[in-house]
Amino acid sequence: MTTTSIPEHLQIAFIGGGNMASAILGGLVRQGMAPARIRVVEPFAETRARLQQEFGVQVLEAADASLGQADVVVWAVKPQQFEEATRPVAPHTGKALHLSVAAGIPASALARWLGTERLVRAMPNTPALVGQGMTGLFAGAGASADDRAVIDALLAPTGQRMWLEQEALIDSLMAISGSGPAYVFYFIEALVRGGVELGLTAEQSKILAAQTFAGAAALVQGSSDAPEVLRQRVTSKGGTTHEAIVIMQQHGVEQAIVAAMHACAARGRELAEQFGG
Ligand SMILES: NC(=O)c1ccc[n+]([C@@H]2O[C@H](COP(=O)([O-])OP(=O)(O)OC[C@H]3O[C@@H](n4cnc5c(N)ncnc54)[C@H](OP(=O)(O)O)[C@@H]3O)[C@@H](O)[C@H]2O)c1
Repeated sequence: MTTTSIPEHLQIAFIGGGNMASAILGGLVRQGMAPARIRVVEPFAETRARLQQEFGVQVLEAADASLGQADVVVWAVKPQQFEEATRPVAPHTGKALHLSVAAGIPASALARWLGTERLVRAMPNTPALVGQGMTGLFAGAGASADDRAVIDALLAPTGQRMWLEQEALIDSLMAISGSGPAYVFYFIEALVRGGVELGLTAEQSKILAAQTFAGAAALVQGSSDAPEVLRQRVTSKGGTTHEAIVIMQQHGVEQAIVAAMHACAARGRELAEQFGG
């Protein structure tokens, strides 16, 4: 999808100008959206200066009535700061479409704080910072099909999107793609450690491990075969890969990963309860 489905005169306000906001607005500006159509509320002066210099967007130290011009408001503040951040903004943005990328804040809390159900809750992941993200999306009751299309277009530069029809599945998705980059880093750390033990340098091991992840993932994405079939194809009995997989199975690696995902999703549900979901 391209930004062609972003209405031509659409104005966007970002609340919070950190990593996620930079990933989204940077993508939009690079795809040709006029920076003058983007406002960012960001309390930290250094971050404001960087956003202005790097992307040419309008920056505000605090919310003001100009936010009333925004058709879309993107919420990219930490969950703990969220409710407080809504107070000076919500009075101006009752008619806007809202997009929240904050982890663990349920649509019901967003609707309460923002005074509207015209909202979309997103669960992005860090590869969004390099345009390779995977974002899960859930639309609030007041978001139309056109609103969804706008959100899809806004997030397109950050990577792929998946819409979920049940909000509870956001926690399930978080257990794969939201927190998953950390699992992959953990796996890469282990591969680097093993590589060093086997005589390679840490740098060589990192290059080998990262490219192996990227390449294997590309095979999964490009093939109609199940991952299990792809694995079996490269695991001949008595061969080297077979030796490795047998050890992983003996150590319960698969069970550990599944148990970790259950814990991750449960923590997501707990956080949502804290925010009154
Ligand atoms: N990074 C990721 O990959 C990722 C993945 C999934 C979900 N998320 C979610 O995305 C959200 C943002 O994460 P992030 O990594 O972009 O965080 P971040 O880099 O810390 O950005 C948050 C920004 O919001 C600013 N801010 C704080 N209070 C504010 C207020 N009242 N009004 C306006 N701006 C305010 C902060 O300014 P100060 O620095 O001055 O505090 C900071 O620049 C979080 O809720 C996180 O759960 C992030």
